[in-house]
Amino acid sequence: MYVCICNAIREKDLRGAARSHSGDAEALYARLGCQPQCRQCLDDAEDVVADERACALA
Ligand code: FES
Repeated sequence: MYVCICNAIREKDLRGAARSHSGDAEALYARLGCQPQCRQCLDDAEDVVADERACALA
């Protein structure tokens, strides 16, 4: 499933970046070689990042 349509960022790729790197969704997009375009996805992307990091701590 895509989290960001503009950059074709898949949820699994964002989750992987969240496990390996610090920072918010925008910083993780940069790690993936992208930057937000329309920015419509950022709230949902932040939720994915928070969920992944919470799961990692559990
Ligand atoms: S859907 Fe992510 S920047 Fe547009």
